[in-house]
Amino acid sequence: MMLRRWMAAGLVAVATAGVLNAVPAAAERPYDPTAQSLRALGQRHGLYVGTAVDMAALADPAEPRYREIVRDEFSTVTAENVMKWESLEPTRGTYDWSAADELVATARRNGQKVRGHVLVWHSQLPKWLTDGVADGSIDNTELRSILRKHITTVASRYRGRIWQWDVVNEAVSDPWDTPSTLHYKGFWAEHLGPGYVADAFRWARAADPTALLFYNDYNIEAFGSGDPANDKTQFVYDMVKGLLARGVPIDGVGSQGHLGTQYGNYDTLQVADALHRFAGLGLSTAFTEVDVRSRLTDGVQAGDSEEINPRLQASAANFHVLLQACLAEPRCLSFTVWGFTDRHSWVPGTFDDPPQGLATIYDENYQPKRAYQVMKADLIYAGPPYVRMRATPKPRR
Ligand code: XIL
Repeated sequence: MMLRRWMAAGLVAVATAGVLNAVPAAAERPYDPTAQSLRALGQRHGLYVGTAVDMAALADPAEPRYREIVRDEFSTVTAENVMKWESLEPTRGTYDWSAADELVATARRNGQKVRGHVLVWHSQLPKWLTDGVADGSIDNTELRSILRKHITTVASRYRGRIWQWDVVNEAVSDPWDTPSTLHYKGFWAEHLGPGYVADAFRWARAADPTALLFYNDYNIEAFGSGDPANDKTQFVYDMVKGLLARGVPIDGVGSQGHLGTQYGNYDTLQVADALHRFAGLGLSTAFTEVDVRSRLTDGVQAGDSEEINPRLQASAANFHVLLQACLAEPRCLSFTVWGFTDRHSWVPGTFDDPPQGLATIYDENYQPKRAYQVMKADLIYAGPPYVRMRATPKPRR
């Protein structure tokens, strides 16, 4: 129908004005890709485009645009906070599922997949747990069984409703940490030793046979820190390779993608190379928490366009690099941004000395920024032979 109307319009135009004028105006074209949402454009590649969701903003009657954009632009969602342990089990033995259930129900209504975030992490743990360990009332044997119970409880509750679970988050140190060689860091490694990583994947698999199980971390966008002994990406690569060799049911590696325009960062080929290497192990990949923050200098805060423009452009360029690299690897299943608007972004509250912000793809008034347009163009102007349909992996047993 659309096609016939276009042809008819074209014929009239040819007859009256000649071939060169025969192209109809954008509004009359049968398919205007620039009018499509990110989620619709991603679908052409089988790529899911996602966002972290702030449940307070989602429920706020004064924020209808927040809900609309979540619904219209994204095909997968992640709970920004409400599936973390401190939110789910604030008091020992009493789970509060309300907000997490709401996220899952919203996703279902919107026809979206859910990335479960997160089963094991050293941060945002309930106080009763960290206090109990600190005062010795919870010993390491009990701690291990508490962790097992938590993973089993949460993964079982959402069994069949989670597409990808971040089973273990941020287990590996950074080159600037002490000790300065890379190591397993944090609460869980300190108390249970590095073996907790394999245990967590096995427990998650036992509780949910259908979810894809991910290891998730930051600063693993590319290989090559200069010093191979301090290459976090290489450490994670070796770790997941070792897990696979031991038959641990891990399906993917999530690269968070928290970048800043003040850093050197990467080009598309470096990032695509990293994704290809993880895929070479038989793993899926995903960008799970992308945002690209900038220093809010005095000039930026005063509205000086000479300071703002280069930052917005650099931010967009980094979104482009990560998305283009993801498109280039058919095992890169999803591209999730960590909040989509500067109005609700974790960046200003977390990186405040010196102040940072401008990290997302919409401004504080829900106007799409350069980064949004760049993502859209990446999704539009990509296709075979180098950008192919995503693979559909089977969960590893
Ligand atoms: C952040 C949230 O965005 C904040 O609202 C919260 O206060 C702290 O955690 N890596 C992760 C995410 O895996 O869970 C973090 O989310 C951001 C860094």
